[in-house]
Amino acid sequence: MSDPQLVLAARVQAALSAAFGPSYADTDPVIRPSQFADLQANVALPLAKKLGRKPRDVAQEIVANLDTAGVVADVQVSGPGFINLTLSDAWIAGEAQRTLEDERLAVPTAEKPQKVVVEYSSPNVAKEMHVGHLRTTIVGDAIARILDFLGHDVVRDNHVGDWGTPFGMLIEHLLDLGEEAAARGDSSVSDLTAFYQAAREKFDGDPEFADRSRTRVVKLQAGDPETLRLWQVLVDVSKQYFNDVYGRLGVTLTDDDIRGESFYNDLLAPTARELEDKGIAVISDGALCAFPPGFTGREGEPLPVIIRKSDGGYNYSTTDLATIRYRVDTEHVDRMVYVVGAPQSLHFQMVFAVSRMAGWLDDEVKAEHAQIGNVLGTDGKILRTRAGGTVKLSELLDEAVERAGAVFDGIQHDEPFDDATREAIVRDVAMGAVKYADLSVARDSEYIFDFDRMISFNGKTGPYLQYAAARIRSIFRKGGLAPEDATGPIVVGHPAERALALELLGFGAVLKQAGDTAEPHRLASYIYAVADAYTTFYENCPVLKAPDDETRASRLALCAATLRTLVTGLSLLGVPTPTRM
Ligand code: ARG
Repeated sequence: MSDPQLVLAARVQAALSAAFGPSYADTDPVIRPSQFADLQANVALPLAKKLGRKPRDVAQEIVANLDTAGVVADVQVSGPGFINLTLSDAWIAGEAQRTLEDERLAVPTAEKPQKVVVEYSSPNVAKEMHVGHLRTTIVGDAIARILDFLGHDVVRDNHVGDWGTPFGMLIEHLLDLGEEAAARGDSSVSDLTAFYQAAREKFDGDPEFADRSRTRVVKLQAGDPETLRLWQVLVDVSKQYFNDVYGRLGVTLTDDDIRGESFYNDLLAPTARELEDKGIAVISDGALCAFPPGFTGREGEPLPVIIRKSDGGYNYSTTDLATIRYRVDTEHVDRMVYVVGAPQSLHFQMVFAVSRMAGWLDDEVKAEHAQIGNVLGTDGKILRTRAGGTVKLSELLDEAVERAGAVFDGIQHDEPFDDATREAIVRDVAMGAVKYADLSVARDSEYIFDFDRMISFNGKTGPYLQYAAARIRSIFRKGGLAPEDATGPIVVGHPAERALALELLGFGAVLKQAGDTAEPHRLASYIYAVADAYTTFYENCPVLKAPDDETRASRLALCAATLRTLVTGLSLLGVPTPTRM
């Protein structure tokens, strides 16, 4: 354990137990950053209330029982009873050295590895992906990568919308165009937005087409082989498009991760039956409904989760219930993380509530909605094209590359790049910019999609962090060394060395938090803090021209540890780090 907060928390807890008895061993020591020391333990204030004593006296007693050996250099009681703790330089240096030497940068794996389904991206077949999907894709991929790194058994799950009534009209429209159009990659099929809209218009304007479409839905649901084949053609066209976007973004999803709504089709009836048998679902106005307690409408009337409509058809909710039941009964998962837009919050709350009633979810098996906020344009409104349409993801990424190229050409480079190299770097910069901008904001907050701000080599941006990593590599190149050759030993003398080393020790705790809460922005902020501490260090502490060999070796080792933390951290966000920039 090298996270200073955790180490000090354990020491303070031991002191609490020694001072006030073993029942206090689990008390939260309330460790916080401090202006006057490295950290502050504020437990004396709440504890004093409980004990009916003066906070300062309680603080003094904790300090008297505190084992400082090897870790704490100085401890002071200040103000009403804050305990200011200063770590010893030798401890910080020693832990930084251990981090450097450890393959995993001293990040522990989970004590209890779980089987975790991370459901993300989940676009709809025969529809263009929009910026909302961009965000669930990027955030979900980061969550999956982080949980993977922490040693969990991660199941990536792309719950694509590939089933339901629209497929009747989509298949009929495909037949009207001629299947060969799809095989040729004809734009009438591959331009998904246009394809969908054309089908919709015919459905609304042509009764004969609408009739055919409805008959087609019935055939699809009955499993008619020819209809299923045509359906598969549409699914495949879309998959190609999804994979193209994933490839460009460097997202880890593959075809094997797709488990669309259609997969659960055969499980809908048994799911409905189980809910009925358990007395959770009842017939109301001809529909089979569950009424989870606590969900009421405006007039206080109970809100239903409709499981089977009065016409016998099943709902979006039914699929989600069948999915949970399947994951629990067949896949034995411990945790499900749904990376889906915030507007679906009520839907998930109600589906989870029904699943708890059914006993599929409980304290052992948990589901959580990792809510994703809206993406806004620079005008503060939902991002739209100038013409007012939804922004196509592929066009958005094209623009990112173009703009990244212009910004990239405007900065100083160590060396000239040939066209192919430049192009590869620019692509990484563009994707890094888009992804980091998305990930640095708390996932449930809205954020403004602003190319100018995200594609900048200054500020809290992807390109700034990529550049920081490239700069460290260039120090090693100039010194004729490989980062792996920097083995230390690390000593901390200058305050900037100390601050950087201390920052590096926080990686494991941040990752654990990001994994536990499914909040990658915690990691994004941490990486920025590391780069920031590095910049201060770099401005104050000459590395290659250090005053003596020991200092040079230590500073090179700090550079190497920083580089690996940046590269590893960014890769867990799915942000690539070009080796030269
Ligand atoms: N396909 C849906 C959409 O694009 C998202 C699916 C979310 N996942 C789920 N299990 N309902 O809005």
